[in-house]
Amino acid sequence: MNTTCIKVDPLQPDEGVLLTASRLLKEGKLVAFPTETVYGLGANALDPEAAEKTYQAKGRPSDNPLIVHISDFKDIALLVEEIPTALAELARVFWPGPLTVICRKSDVIPSGVTGGLDTVAIRMPNHPIALALIRLSGGYISAPSANSSGRPSPTKASHVMTDLNGKIEMVIDGGEVEIGLESTILDMTVVPPRILRPGAITREMLENVLGEVEVDKALVGDSKAPPKAPGMKYRHYSPKAPLFLISGDKEQIPLAINRLIQEGLQLGKKVGVLATEETKNFYQSCVIRSLGSEKSVETIAHNLYNSLREFDEKDVDIIFGETFYVEGLFSAIMNRLQKAASHRNIEASNILSEKENYLINLIITEEETQNEQC
Ligand code: TXA
Ligand code: MG
Repeated sequence: MNTTCIKVDPLQPDEGVLLTASRLLKEGKLVAFPTETVYGLGANALDPEAAEKTYQAKGRPSDNPLIVHISDFKDIALLVEEIPTALAELARVFWPGPLTVICRKSDVIPSGVTGGLDTVAIRMPNHPIALALIRLSGGYISAPSANSSGRPSPTKASHVMTDLNGKIEMVIDGGEVEIGLESTILDMTVVPPRILRPGAITREMLENVLGEVEVDKALVGDSKAPPKAPGMKYRHYSPKAPLFLISGDKEQIPLAINRLIQEGLQLGKKVGVLATEETKNFYQSCVIRSLGSEKSVETIAHNLYNSLREFDEKDVDIIFGETFYVEGLFSAIMNRLQKAASHRNIEASNILSEKENYLINLIITEEETQNEQC
């Protein structure tokens, strides 16, 4: 299949391109488009065959449900058994925007879209291209992030092309997305409502509207509980090389990473480091990606997935990442980093207290784990 990638100005979306895209969607084909969070892989949400194609193109397990995107609050009535009372107020404050809500589904939504669940995820994105496309296409577009399953979500059209070229009909290139992390997912079928995936709409923001809001236990600490959003159980957002997160005392983290870089060089490894503006000059002889200043959490969120993808282009063998305090939007950033790292965490003090050969032991353990998984 030939994938066409067409530039569209978000401030003045070309109606002709959007009409072509909506025609493709109505025919059951796949079109990737920008939202304010990440690029989505759009399909007609009421067409079970289109859902099947979505899973195939992404290589995604079919028990991992899709989010249905709408452009008008009243369209929600078709999707749900009953509109939860608090939802109108939530929508008034946060929609269009980076919030997805889980409700009991009506029979109109094919079970292939919801991975067999009796609930449906719904979101109204805040992006002029996305909103116009949804409207022109009949109002209901399913859209997972437009990456191959397991890879970092796309924050620009070139990321979508890298993963899905030849597998989908069209990509609408609306430039870089604004936020860079997927929407917050809030389960409205339980009391109190529960966050299943952290995002730009934080717990504090939701509590200001709803009162008490819980966070899925699987997202907290080292809990072994299965996550309630099926997608959160999979390895995700990962660069090709293994990523290790270094935590602990703020002063010790760069020292520990430097120690690992030196050992990596001796072992002939190409090392990548995920740093910030404040620490990037501290590292040498490695591939450094700064996520931005620690003082701008929005910049760090915006740059995260692009930086992870850049390590692939540089063919690094191993990546070390700094960690952040878990609060506000940093909770979402650390959630994605932990998944990208498959929870490979190391305490800086452990690295610094070891006399030598920390990295070689780490690599041996890593290889043993890989072999066990094969
Ligand atoms: O920002 C976003 O939400 C982006 C853009 C494109 O809108 N979309 C996105 O979709 O991130 P996706 O498919 O990559 O992630 C959807 C997540 C998955 O973890 C999935 O398991 C969860 O939502 N989900 C979908 N329906 C659900 C349901 N009924 N119950 C629980 N979790 C659900
Ligand atoms: Mg995704």
